[in-house]
Amino acid sequence: SQTLQETLLAAIRTIPDYPKPGILFRDITTLLGDARAFRRSVDELVHPYAGSKIDKIAGIEARGFILGGAMAHQLSSGFVPIRKKGKLPYETVRVAYSLEYGLDEMEMHRDAVSPGERVILVDDLIATGGTAEGAVKLLRQMGAEIVAACFVIDLPDLGGRAKLEALGVSVNTLIAYQGD
Ligand code: PRP
Ligand code: MG
Repeated sequence: SQTLQETLLAAIRTIPDYPKPGILFRDITTLLGDARAFRRSVDELVHPYAGSKIDKIAGIEARGFILGGAMAHQLSSGFVPIRKKGKLPYETVRVAYSLEYGLDEMEMHRDAVSPGERVILVDDLIATGGTAEGAVKLLRQMGAEIVAACFVIDLPDLGGRAKLEALGVSVNTLIAYQGD
């Protein structure tokens, strides 16, 4: 049977020069559409936390919603969306975060997490870590205990994992692409 690495390498599609020349885009839609690869990825993401009490999975818009919903179901946890600004209907907490070029803002509902709740953060990919760092700030502002941040894909050359670890966040990723 295939190793996890073989399954993921076969299921993740790489698109050269998207969205810009020189960028290799790692596309997980092919992984999500592959029943075995999707189940295996979610199983691997939740495995370290099976049997521990996780109150909430916080998913980062947009692909973090898909993974996070499946993880929440499997861990019997709640799900909390972290969204780009202006999308959530109730009162929010908001934070600016850095993108490759410039800044954006993300939000969560101000009652989405209670102080002391144990939360796992999830997104499809960590690159510079700017997005995940913003999410960590929001969750900590709410008093959450961040048990871990999980990603299918790590681009370690871009430093995101190291950035989160420097903030005291434990990082779990399934596959790393180096030299991107
Ligand atoms: C991509 C990816 C992560 C983020 C990682 O999202 O899905 O959320 O970039 O980059 P970083 O570690 O350098 O912050 P993107 O901003 O392209 O938006 P999308 O998920 O809404 O497509
Ligand atoms: Mg994203």
